[in-house]
Amino acid sequence: MRLTKDNIVVRSATVEDAILLNQWWNDGRAMEHAGFPYGVGESLEETIKNIKSRKDESGQLCIIEIDGKAVGELSYRIEDNTAYPGWKICDFDYQNKGYGTKIILLLFEHLFNFVDRIVWDTMIENTRAQHVYERKIGARRVGTRENCWKDQTGKYRTAVDYEMTKEEFLVNRKKDRDFFDLLIEEEKKHFEGWDFSYLESTNRMQEFPLSWNYWH
Ligand SMILES: CC(C)(COP(=O)(O)OP(=O)(O)OC[C@H]1O[C@@H](n2cnc3c(N)ncnc32)[C@H](O)[C@@H]1OP(=O)(O)O)[C@@H](O)C(=O)NCCC(=O)NCCS
Repeated sequence: MRLTKDNIVVRSATVEDAILLNQWWNDGRAMEHAGFPYGVGESLEETIKNIKSRKDESGQLCIIEIDGKAVGELSYRIEDNTAYPGWKICDFDYQNKGYGTKIILLLFEHLFNFVDRIVWDTMIENTRAQHVYERKIGARRVGTRENCWKDQTGKYRTAVDYEMTKEEFLVNRKKDRDFFDLLIEEEKKHFEGWDFSYLESTNRMQEFPLSWNYWH
């Protein structure tokens, strides 16, 4: 599998990615959000086995590349017309720059070729992820599961559940496109009737400061 958008590539992981994936999964800082502050403690052999087990569209493990650099991973499994994905930008320098939102939407566009529903969750403490899901991709918060599992430190954690149907995805996409068209129209209107002849003939703004011009 290979998905691309602008400078983002999402591609199936290969055995050559095993060392990097293994480093990320065993890194407590990268795995804390999932309840593994000490890392998952997986051997390289187990990671290789994991990569090799993902053979077809029903379950993929992918590397996220930005400008040709591997910065994170995503995975999903498909069962009964529903996809269950997860994603992680592991290189902190690439978080909070708008990439996560784009990557999730790119993945959803792909998954909705195969399923009618996507279901996933996050931890209650992960307010950034919740903001992205609710405010940026328009996902439906289905509910929370209080103290539903014990993390690596023995602490009970609460999960927040999300869902999006293919229909919701298409409606959101249409709304985005309509809004984008509206912005383009508004931008055109903004300069209608303005006289740019001085600028065009001289390649300069007014000789005198604009504020002075307003006064006289
Ligand atoms: C969650 C994740 C996929 C989001 O991707 P991202 O590229 O970092 O997010 P974006 O830049 O697209 O959007 C971040 C938004 O969250 C907001 N945000 C940042 N920190 C926040 C916080 N602590 N609480 C609430 N919102 C926050 C940002 O302001 C931005 O919103 P805005 O564009 O409206 O200003 C990514 O950060 C990640 O992989 N994190 C580590 C692993 C993880 O949490 N995976 C998800 C598990 S369910």
